[in-house]
Amino acid sequence: MTMINGYPVKIAGTGKYIPEKIMTNFDFEKFLDTSNEWIESRTGIKKRHIASKEERCSDLAFKAGAAALEDAGISAGELDLIVVATDTPDTYCPCTAAKVQGMLGAEKAGAYDVIAGCTGSLTAMLTAIGGISSGVWNNVLVIGSEDFAEVLDWNDRSTCILFGDGAGACVLSRSDDENVRFISGELLADGKKYDLITIDKEDGRDSPVLRMKGSEVFRFVNTHLPAFLKDFCDKSGIIPADVDFWVLHQANTRIIDGLFKRLGASSERTLTNLENYGNTSAASLMITLDETMKAGRIKSGDKVVFTAFGAGMTLGALLYAA
Ligand code: COA
Repeated sequence: MTMINGYPVKIAGTGKYIPEKIMTNFDFEKFLDTSNEWIESRTGIKKRHIASKEERCSDLAFKAGAAALEDAGISAGELDLIVVATDTPDTYCPCTAAKVQGMLGAEKAGAYDVIAGCTGSLTAMLTAIGGISSGVWNNVLVIGSEDFAEVLDWNDRSTCILFGDGAGACVLSRSDDENVRFISGELLADGKKYDLITIDKEDGRDSPVLRMKGSEVFRFVNTHLPAFLKDFCDKSGIIPADVDFWVLHQANTRIIDGLFKRLGASSERTLTNLENYGNTSAASLMITLDETMKAGRIKSGDKVVFTAFGAGMTLGALLYAA
């Protein structure tokens, strides 16, 4: 766990982009042995959005990034760095962030991608925060963007019903108020569990495909995440019950409900949107942050904990004083 010293870092603006096309649970009933009832009761998901064939990860990322810049009231030219967190980049190389940098015309900005499963955008945030607090950068655009269509096996009912497309973004900037700042952050991985969620090549398939050992992931998260967050809060000098708001990765409502129970924290202090988008992986935390901010759910002085978990297996948390 790291206390974030140095220059204070704030969230200067947020944005999102959700593709138009909607796929409901009922749509899956038409070609898979599944039901709306099964999907909703096991996951909390009612529908998800699917990017069009013409839209790639960079297109979604660009729109979310532009929205965050507008919200922050800064121009692309003022950015020092763009980080795109994704599991579904346009290409292995170059990074999607470089393409987005070009699309935005962020001429002074560097660019790189982060691949850390659903923990990707939190990972990107913490590295950006470290860079701003140490004085390397002033304004960083963090984007989480996913375009899952090509990596899903649409015949695998245990995975394709879970994921959705979308992008979210935030501008992180040096704060002029010492009290508005990220306070601490932590990343953790258990690489021995790297095979629980993978996007990899497979014989007989043209493109890499997503596979997941769902019930093992469920067990891993329920076992490790509450302990990880209790420890994170403890080392950050707070207790979970005192957290004013939780910005959570949206994977499964049963995981979220179980987490609040195990932490002894109030489940009313969060915003869930899983029912509308499914699991948008690296985009999920950023979309949720944008919707939380736009709904006015975070008030001045609130202590906010962000957390995400995903392929790797990876875990992460941030504490923010709003
Ligand atoms: N519709 C109907 N039945 C389905 C189904 C679907 N879409 N998907 C799986 N099933 C079946 C299984 O085949 C299994 O049938 P069986 O008992 O005849 O073998 C049964 O449902 C139970 O499967 P299981 O995988 O044990 O279900 P579960 O209660 O664990 O729920 C998940 C499955 C995927 C919803 C759940 O494990 C989960 O959410 N895991 C975490 C996934 C996650 O969050 N991943 C991202 C992490 S960032």
